[in-house]
Amino acid sequence: MKKNIVTLVDHNSGKTYEYPVLEGTRGPSVIDIRNLFKDTGMFTYDPGYTSTASCESKITFIDGAKGELRYRGIPIEELATKHSYLDTCYLLLNGTLPDHVEHKAFDLELRHRAFLHEGLHNLFKAFPDNAHPMATLSAAVTALASFYHEHLEMENEAEFKEMAHRLIAKMPTLAAFAYRHSLGIPFIQPDIDLSFTKNFLTMMRAYPGGKMHLSMLGHEEIKEIEVRALDTIFTLHADHEQNASTTVVRGVASTGAHPYVAISSGIAALWGRAHGGANESVIAQLEMIGSVENVDAFIERAKDPDDNFRLMGFGHRVYKNFDPRARILKELQDELRIELGLDSELMAIARKIEETALSDEYFISRNLYPNIDFYTGIILTALKIPKSMFTPIFVIGRTVGWLSQWIEFKQDPTSKIARPRQLYTGE
Ligand code: CMC
Repeated sequence: MKKNIVTLVDHNSGKTYEYPVLEGTRGPSVIDIRNLFKDTGMFTYDPGYTSTASCESKITFIDGAKGELRYRGIPIEELATKHSYLDTCYLLLNGTLPDHVEHKAFDLELRHRAFLHEGLHNLFKAFPDNAHPMATLSAAVTALASFYHEHLEMENEAEFKEMAHRLIAKMPTLAAFAYRHSLGIPFIQPDIDLSFTKNFLTMMRAYPGGKMHLSMLGHEEIKEIEVRALDTIFTLHADHEQNASTTVVRGVASTGAHPYVAISSGIAALWGRAHGGANESVIAQLEMIGSVENVDAFIERAKDPDDNFRLMGFGHRVYKNFDPRARILKELQDELRIELGLDSELMAIARKIEETALSDEYFISRNLYPNIDFYTGIILTALKIPKSMFTPIFVIGRTVGWLSQWIEFKQDPTSKIARPRQLYTGE
């Protein structure tokens, strides 16, 4: 890494201090202030980490101004349109896309690892009916740590990979079980003959022992376009560099806790509606708006500084341009509308919100564009997935990202326990 220097001048003492500027391969440079406190006796102040790089990473790159997202250097558009979610998982974990043989072996291993220990089945019974699947899922992943305590003492690459593959494979099963428990309907075991994504849809929809699927419209087979749409959603959620839940996962990793507990903490952080929970809130908000005629009134509320109402699915800490994931999903939504013959009132309300906000000075001046969650809710509704499962679906996609970041943290010799400082203003 090439090093420049930044000079800090303390005008009170007249002292100057020099700090190296580290340049990455893409994106803004960073000022290395690790010695700042030792040198000056002062901390930096940055609530919400708006200007702080918390780690060095080789996994994901975002250019928020351009609306660009890459995993391991490959643009998200290429991954979403030319590769499967499993290829993306392999890429995030290994740094390169798999060849045909590697893909087959990875796919087969995940199929075999999708089953849950029989003892874990009992855990679900402890949760009340109507429990939110996110609560059950987070608890189930923590419980999984008790079945695989050997993952506390991992040393080599093979052990890291086994731990990661195990959780990636089991997450759809845990999510589907959490959902079926919330409805009080029997669990469907994974089917080793099915692909990762089709298997998840089957565990969500199927009747036990049969090929028929649960649907308000009768018994339906899962359509290929539904599998492709969900697979794309998983890919688009697979990683997003140092977002809130990943920061939590790295923070828990820094204490030496079990990796599955770190992932469970990530699930908890993702649940909030400022983060992954926004996808569920988008649909709840569209339902609340109720009809196209009411859109203008809600847009006015979103703009009112005295009203804490926010337009869900709009805005992003990093993207100050169209979220590239949202662009891909917008196209997918149009494709689904034609292929599945869908055109609901919710879609019409969403279209009106999008048109109005994108031409409104309030949203333009603050660079508030639709984000990924604005479109996932509509697409998942079209796939007959209930609102409560939107964030668990985000979890399934993001598990590989959290695990890749967890492994990177563990393999980084400069990693330290996460322990920020504070500006004390109390008594
Ligand atoms: N509706 C109306 N106004 C908004 C919105 C919104 N959705 N988002 C931001 N603003 C306004 C905000 O009021 C502020 O205005 P002002 O400068 O007049 O005070 C300005 O835009 C900047 O907002 P901020 O809260 O300082 O921005 P942030 O970077 O801290 O927050 C955010 C980012 C995503 C939490 C926020 O935009 C938001 O709450 N959006 C709605 C929830 C949402 O869709 N979350 C999903 C994010 S994408 C999925 C993921 O990766 O997690």
